[in-house]
Parts: sequence; C-alpha cells; structure tokens
Amino acid sequence: MKITVIGAGYVGLVTAACLAELGFRVACIDKDPARVAQLQDGHCPIYEPGLTALLQRNQQDGRLSFGSDLTRGVQQGDILIIAVGTPPQEDGSADLSHVLAVAHSIGAYMKSFKLVVNKSTVPVGTGDRVRQTIARALATRGHAELPFDVVSNPEFLKEGAAIDDFMRPDRVVVGVDAGPNHDKSRRMMEDLYASFNRHHERTVWMDVRSAELTKYAANAMLATRISFMNEIANLADLLGADVDKVRRGIGSDSRIGHSFLYAGCGYGAAAFPRTPVP
Ligand SMILES: NC(=O)c1ccc[n+]([C@@H]2O[C@H](COP(=O)([O-])OP(=O)(O)OC[C@H]3O[C@@H](n4cnc5c(N)ncnc54)[C@H](O)[C@@H]3O)[C@@H](O)[C@H]2O)c1
Repeated sequence: MKITVIGAGYVGLVTAACLAELGFRVACIDKDPARVAQLQDGHCPIYEPGLTALLQRNQQDGRLSFGSDLTRGVQQGDILIIAVGTPPQEDGSADLSHVLAVAHSIGAYMKSFKLVVNKSTVPVGTGDRVRQTIARALATRGHAELPFDVVSNPEFLKEGAAIDDFMRPDRVVVGVDAGPNHDKSRRMMEDLYASFNRHHERTVWMDVRSAELTKYAANAMLATRISFMNEIANLADLLGADVDKVRRGIGSDSRIGHSFLYAGCGYGAAAFPRTPVP
C-alpha cells in the first residue's frame, strides 16, 4: 500500500516519517519548493526530537521521498493523507482553503480508487465538503464514475513528544461513513494502523462527523482544564492557599487525574486557541 502525505508541516512530516518507519512507501508532497528542497537535502525544517534521524534514515532506505508534484503524488498513492494547515481566520473560524484546494487537486488528478484521509483539524462537516469538492472536480473531467472515499483520522500529537505520540498512541480515532466503499476503506485503515493494534485494539471506530467532533472536543476539554486551573491559581493567591497542594489534592481523585492540571500563563501552542466552537 503506497501512501502520499500532502503537507510537509509538523503533522505531515511526523506522519510521513513514522509511516515510513513502519515499513510503508511514503511520498510527502508540499507546495513550498524551498521546504521540499531542504527536506530532499536531509534537513528538517522544524525542531522535533528524533525527527531528523527518522527522516534521514527512511530517505536513505528508499521508503520516504519528498516532492512538490501533487499530480504524481495523487496518482501514485493508494491512501492520500491530507495534513495541510487550517489556520484561524479573523472571526475565529478555520480557514479550509488549503484542505479544499487539495481536495480539488485529488479530483482533478486521480485515475483510480483513492482513500482520502483527513488528518487536518477541521470543523464538523468538512468531510462532506471534501467529498463534494472531489466529486465536482471528477465530474468536470467527465470521470464522475471514479470511486473514492473520505475518512477522518484526527491527529492528537503534542509538539516536543510527537514521534512517541504517533508511534505509541493512546488511541487512534478513525471516522468511516457507511456507503459503497465502507468495507474497503475500513480494511485499508486497519492495514495502515495494524502495528498499533497488535497487543490490544487502539483504534476507536466511528463515523466521520463524530471523529471530527472528537478532535474539537478533546482540544476544548484540555484547554478548559488549563483555564480552570489558572482560575484556581488566582483564587489561591487571593485566599492564601497553595495551588500546588490543591492540584495534588484534586488530581489524586481518579475521576479527575493529574495531567493537564498545572497552572501557568494560559494555554498556547498551535492548536488549542484555534479550536472555535463548531
Ligand atoms: N502542529 C500540531 O501540533 C498539530 C497537532 C494536531 C493537529 N494539528 C492540525 O494538523 C493540521 C496541520 O498542522 P501543521 O502544524 O502540520 O501545519 P503547518 O502549517 O506546519 O504545515 C502545513 C503544510 O502544508 C503545506 N500546504 C498547504 N497547502 C498545500 C497544498 N495545496 N499542497 C501541498 N502542501 C500544502 C504548507 O506549505 C505547509 O508546509 C492543522 O489542521 C492543525 O490544526 C496540528
């Protein structure tokens, strides 16, 4: 099974490197020629522990390649993973122009069945828009009969621990909708993640909309915990209490748990602030 990852940013690079490490042949395509040239020379444009070595080893072993030719990337991949940016717009909503541009290209270039896997963080309903965009591009070419499917596979990696998060995930969320290609799509996703499910099943199967909402809900829940602890820290200051002791006191309740209970200067990173209410 050949994989094409579209977008060589944080998520795309980690996904491409890790899938190559698992033994797949992976082509990673980006529209930024400078970024592609850098990657082809063995340089990693982002700092992520372990990533450079993984990229170099898999390139040398011939399992991983970088390029900017999306036509070839679409035609050669059995699975096309979309990992392009969805930055927030002025009103807070996600800019889907990159995702939909890729969907259009897939419809414009594909010649046989493609499983389109959306890894970008997107609002609920984007899977349907990707499907419609591909279908429109196919119809324009007079190839409305060409089969494809769109599944959702949100990414939960943390920058700084991304390789470990990808290679040893708590869970893999996969949304596959009912339809004529359901069984084939599910089998392909099972093959893609087979190595994570050897000891126990880590894949949580659902429909596309539920998978899209799962990602937004997880981001919102984590951001809420941090915000909540920041409020408790303010309260502790006002009342002469020690927030660190309060944190340990509430975290030891198994219903609450210890992670994401550290007060700080507010939440940041790329993802949490950009998760608007769907
Ligand atoms: N960075 C994270 O920690 C993280 C974690 C989970 C999910 N996500 C989500 O994953 C998605 C990707 O995030 P990222 O941080 O990797 O983004 P990024 O901005 O680092 O990278 C996106 C890449 O896509 C490329 N691109 C854009 N349009 C393209 C096109 N038409 N064809 C080919 N390449 C194209 C850009 O040149 C860029 O290199 C976003 O939706 C983000 O919200 C990010």
